[in-house]
Amino acid sequence: MDDSEPDELRTQGQAVLDFLARYLERVHEMPIRPKVEPGAILRRVGDAPPEHGEPLEAIVRDLEDVVLPGVTHWQSPGWFAYFPSNTTVPSILGDLAAAGLGQQGMLWATSPACTEIEMAMMNWLVELLGLPRGWRMDGPGGGVIQMTASDATHVALVVARNQARAHASIEKMVVYASDQAHSSIEKGARIAGFEHIRALPTDDVFALQPETLEAQIAEDRRHGLHPAFVSSTVGTTGTTAIDPVRKVGEIARAENLWHHVDAAYAGTAMLCPELRPLQDGLELCDSYVFNPHKWMGVGFDCSCFYVADRKPLLDAMSILPPYLRAEAAETREVVDYRDWQLALGRRFRALKLWFVLRAYGAEGIRSQVRRHLGLARSFAEWVDAHPALTRIAPVPLALVCFRCAAGDAATRALASAINASGDLYITLSAHGDEAFIRVSVGHRHTEPRHLERLRDVISAHMDTQN
Ligand SMILES: Cc1ncc(COP(=O)(O)O)c(C=O)c1O
Repeated sequence: MDDSEPDELRTQGQAVLDFLARYLERVHEMPIRPKVEPGAILRRVGDAPPEHGEPLEAIVRDLEDVVLPGVTHWQSPGWFAYFPSNTTVPSILGDLAAAGLGQQGMLWATSPACTEIEMAMMNWLVELLGLPRGWRMDGPGGGVIQMTASDATHVALVVARNQARAHASIEKMVVYASDQAHSSIEKGARIAGFEHIRALPTDDVFALQPETLEAQIAEDRRHGLHPAFVSSTVGTTGTTAIDPVRKVGEIARAENLWHHVDAAYAGTAMLCPELRPLQDGLELCDSYVFNPHKWMGVGFDCSCFYVADRKPLLDAMSILPPYLRAEAAETREVVDYRDWQLALGRRFRALKLWFVLRAYGAEGIRSQVRRHLGLARSFAEWVDAHPALTRIAPVPLALVCFRCAAGDAATRALASAINASGDLYITLSAHGDEAFIRVSVGHRHTEPRHLERLRDVISAHMDTQN
């Protein structure tokens, strides 16, 4: 090793930490969306790769000059768009430590710490979220950290396909989800080779209807098709609708389908026991995904994927070339996580999860979630009391969806006015032809005054429309 490396890490590492600390100090003052023209950052970086090395100092300085002007501030307290994607100091430091240790945890043997801290985190989350105990690493099931919910869902689809092969060819297999399910279901299904993908119509609160699922399965069987996979969502992306997990699970059991539950956003909320009825029936599912990188304070990327039984997962995903055959794994003493995902290599993602769970404790994260739920509910009450606004969906979690009673054009204009404010950012969405505004409360520094500001901007805009 170059003798200067440790010192360089100390000085330039400190400079990066200083930059990030300054960023956190200023982020609430910055316009959430950067004011850059497309291509501006690309031009600034330039076309010519450097022939000769530069001092790290100069590179670090460009975080401020080149990178920051093109950053969208997901970490702003006025962030009400999409879903939250919080990072926190413990998460930043856990990621930094993971980068510095340079682990590649494809096998237990290539990093026992990476593997076993991940196993421990999967067990902790079973306890913290009240998940079925058989999903612990010492049970028949288990959990793994994937990059995104889309990756996890794709893996679930591949496992389901592998299982269904005993009964039918892929051309006959059918995948079911509601028309509100995240696009990752359809994308994963297509990539996994499924040709029949049913987006089932939902009820008036955007939830999957068990009767619709049953009827579609029966019709598909009549046509000689083979129902193979169903996904229910706890907290859909559009409106946080809650599918009836238990009923879907019962149908899946009776019809021999793989049942995958997508709780990408909502999973964190299960730290609060009073919310667990929203996913009642989990013991009837085969796989489950939720994203600590949304609401738990763990920076992107960290998506937890559980299976009720690891055997079908390993049957579908493991291959064992001789150079990867590890003695301990062959005797089943250890977990080789490369068999639980698509890629071979894997980062030490568990470290940031470990840092976050220890730094805040369950109680710290739970109280954040409850605070967000309270803020969202009082904002929903305000919307309900407003004569010119109509809420379009229930608020089981911390997302409020509404539109202008005057119609689509008015709703779009209101969305533009909110986003033009600079310090607030919401998402404009649509159900069918009807536009609506999503206000997702979940940033860790969002306080009542930020929702007050949102209400003021909405009221001011509505006043100009009268
Ligand atoms: C319900 C649901 N599922 C899946 C996803 C996709 O998550 P990821 O970006 O981790 O693939 C999202 C993203 O918002 C989501 O809301």
